[in-house]
Amino acid sequence: MQQLGLSAHLTHKANLKHTRYGWLRLTPAYSVHLVQDLLSETASHDAVVLDPFCGTGTTALACAERGIPVDTTDINPFLLWLTKTKVSTYESDHLNEFRSIARHIARLMEDHSSDDIWIPPIHQIEKWWNGDVLRMLGAIMGFVRQISESYPEKVVDLLKVAFCRTMIAHSSASFNHQSMSFKPQNNLSLFHRAVDDMLITWESAVEDLYISAQSEVRVTPGIFLCDARRLSTVLPHNYYTCVITSPPYPNRMSYIRELRPYMYWLGYLHNGREAGELDWQAIGGTWGIATSNVSRWSPSEPRTIPHPGFLNTLAKISEKSDLLARYVHKYFYDMVEHINDLFVVTRSGGSIHYIVGNSKFYDVIVPVEAIFASMFSDRGFVDVDIRPIRKRTSKKELYEYLICARKP
Ligand SMILES: C[S@@+](CC[C@H](N)C(=O)[O-])C[C@H]1O[C@@H](n2cnc3c(N)ncnc32)[C@H](O)[C@@H]1O
Repeated sequence: MQQLGLSAHLTHKANLKHTRYGWLRLTPAYSVHLVQDLLSETASHDAVVLDPFCGTGTTALACAERGIPVDTTDINPFLLWLTKTKVSTYESDHLNEFRSIARHIARLMEDHSSDDIWIPPIHQIEKWWNGDVLRMLGAIMGFVRQISESYPEKVVDLLKVAFCRTMIAHSSASFNHQSMSFKPQNNLSLFHRAVDDMLITWESAVEDLYISAQSEVRVTPGIFLCDARRLSTVLPHNYYTCVITSPPYPNRMSYIRELRPYMYWLGYLHNGREAGELDWQAIGGTWGIATSNVSRWSPSEPRTIPHPGFLNTLAKISEKSDLLARYVHKYFYDMVEHINDLFVVTRSGGSIHYIVGNSKFYDVIVPVEAIFASMFSDRGFVDVDIRPIRKRTSKKELYEYLICARKP
């Protein structure tokens, strides 16, 4: 296991190169190398793995490639769709059909001959894409929607991934920082230049998918829409021998905010209210209505967060911001519920592996790793161990940790 340092090997950037892991570059992802190291260290021949916070499906894909049975859950239906698409087996018929339709779409783009344009209801969409780009994206998606009933789902799914790559590559949004921003648009951009650029992106995405989708996947993961606080309502009890996951961190990062463009274009979101409602279901969600709900939130039942310094940490944050203190409190309150249910579905002797990041609000450090360790012990897990993995940013106090434990 690699030690501390700003290591690209242990971030989602390590997933990018020409494999199924790199199909869409989304920040929730953690490093496949980290998952592979953990599988080599811990998964025995009779392992059954669970990832309760699926995200982009890194754990599910790593297990499926090795032939290890795995189930995964998430509350975001778009991420579950992406995971299903990444772990599917593609026959050569599917791939050839995908490439031939993709070429037809490329011709439509060149001739700008499509009359079936579909544009999603994104607020101020003109900030995201300039008019020429938007019209062409609308033409691709209009065509994909039109053929989706008459072609195999796997072919349509690959077209949608190629679309997502093109759509995000030609958007004016910058996701480099937590506070997403928009690049100034060049309104003088010539239509033909926009077509050429998009064609290059489309064709290279199609070729990349065509090649990487040929890699072998040896088992089909179970993929479930399920709230991680209620795992035991959907999953078998006393079943999983190994849990490898990365839950949301309490750092006010909103997956919905970042995933919005994909979710609108693929029909998983229709308005801002839905986006906020979905983020409110997410542990640590903080987008739109989720923020105003957090500002009024208080525990509905007594639930102890079993870390000796927790109340003190909350009090210090609340001196600066009542909202942020409630946010941190709710995050751990929800995690206690998740860990209760995690215990129910883990087999006796099974090991759990959580990758978490600590956080800082004003000058108050939240020792997320220590709080998780206390929550695991309190629920009855044993051999709880915290290992630092890497520095998360150039700020010296922010780290990522691996917390391991075992159900007795
Ligand atoms: C850090 S990401 C997981 C990243 C993943 N390891 C990967 O490689 O892509 C956390 C995930 O937890 C999901 N999540 C948040 N709240 C949840 C809840 N209540 N139940 C299930 N999943 C939830 C989010 O949708 C997000 O996909």
